[in-house]
Amino acid sequence: MTLISKIEKNSSYLKIVWNDGEESKFNYLWLRDNCPTAHDKDSRHRMFNILEVSNKINPKKYNVNSEGKLEIEWSEGEHTSYYDLSWLRENCYTLKNKKKYVSPYELWDNSLEKNLKSIQIEHDEIINSDEGLIKWLELLHHKGIAIVQNAPTKKESAFKVLNRISHTRETFFKTPFEVINIPKPNNSAYTAHALRNHMDLPWFENPPGYQFLHCLINDAEGGDSSAVDAFAVSDYLRKNEKEIFETLVNVPLKFRDKDYTQESHRSFYAPAISLTKDGDYNDIRFSVATMDALDCHPDIMHTVYKAHHRFGNLLHDDKFQIRFRLEAGDIFSFNNRRLLHGRTAFNPNSGHRHLQGYYMDRDEIIGRLNFLKK
Ligand code: OGA
Ligand code: ZN
Repeated sequence: MTLISKIEKNSSYLKIVWNDGEESKFNYLWLRDNCPTAHDKDSRHRMFNILEVSNKINPKKYNVNSEGKLEIEWSEGEHTSYYDLSWLRENCYTLKNKKKYVSPYELWDNSLEKNLKSIQIEHDEIINSDEGLIKWLELLHHKGIAIVQNAPTKKESAFKVLNRISHTRETFFKTPFEVINIPKPNNSAYTAHALRNHMDLPWFENPPGYQFLHCLINDAEGGDSSAVDAFAVSDYLRKNEKEIFETLVNVPLKFRDKDYTQESHRSFYAPAISLTKDGDYNDIRFSVATMDALDCHPDIMHTVYKAHHRFGNLLHDDKFQIRFRLEAGDIFSFNNRRLLHGRTAFNPNSGHRHLQGYYMDRDEIIGRLNFLKK
């Protein structure tokens, strides 16, 4: 049980010594802002506004009361707050900041190819149980890749399993988008050509977080799939080729889409690798097909191209890349801002090939997983 052995008042914070010897600092404004009465019980939005008190607010009186709560009578606003000690301990930012960051990402390389079983999951297991759904979401979040097997092969039938997670993300390619070779295609995916490893739609400010390619039929010669964990490649560069890594993190590249069906020219600048507040990998931007004519400073253009070139080569290196073949009823599911995906060319005269694609925002994957785990 969480208990307090000592409380000490300082100029801007209470110092709490817990019964296990840990010490926490709780700033007064932080405490007042997080008074349990501050939030509406349904929306869980904060109704209290910190601007209603001055930044000099401090405890007039404080103690652990007979119910075991930390009770604080404030110097302003005639208000008393009651805090559960377990809530304080769980949300303590002093202790959180002492902990070493642990990444949720399990990076992988080509050795995954021999262990594809570890990323496969049965369609009906996801439909019929929360355990199945959690397993799928965990694969997507931690490994960035999962292959759902034995899904129905009727058109649009992937909505059912996707809606176990949430709604899909709409784009002008429509949902689902049809990956099939068509005359006068507005995207190189809608041909029989090979696609080198790429991400989809890097020219959006917020490219789709996840992508789901549902294989309805794959009877043509060729059309084998590839995937690479670009976080793993980034990590290799971070550890072994620091200058290239720094360039990829620091210099924004430019991406664009102006296909002939669109009355819109979409374009966005972003670095090839972006990091989180903890220095972990946030997302990747890489697509040879849709990188625009770069316009970075002439003094750095060669350095930028060298870094892009090196990154691109590693992203196709057999040390990192896996290859596999999608079967009818597979849903190749992946983090579109972490993995790059590709396919070999296929011969459209040798048989049919048809995938249907769906996108979903990353918030939907992580939000649903957080909910199901708590
Ligand atoms: C795509 C794509 C891969 C495939 O449609 O974006 O990459 O196997 N397709 O056809
Ligand atoms: Zn693609």
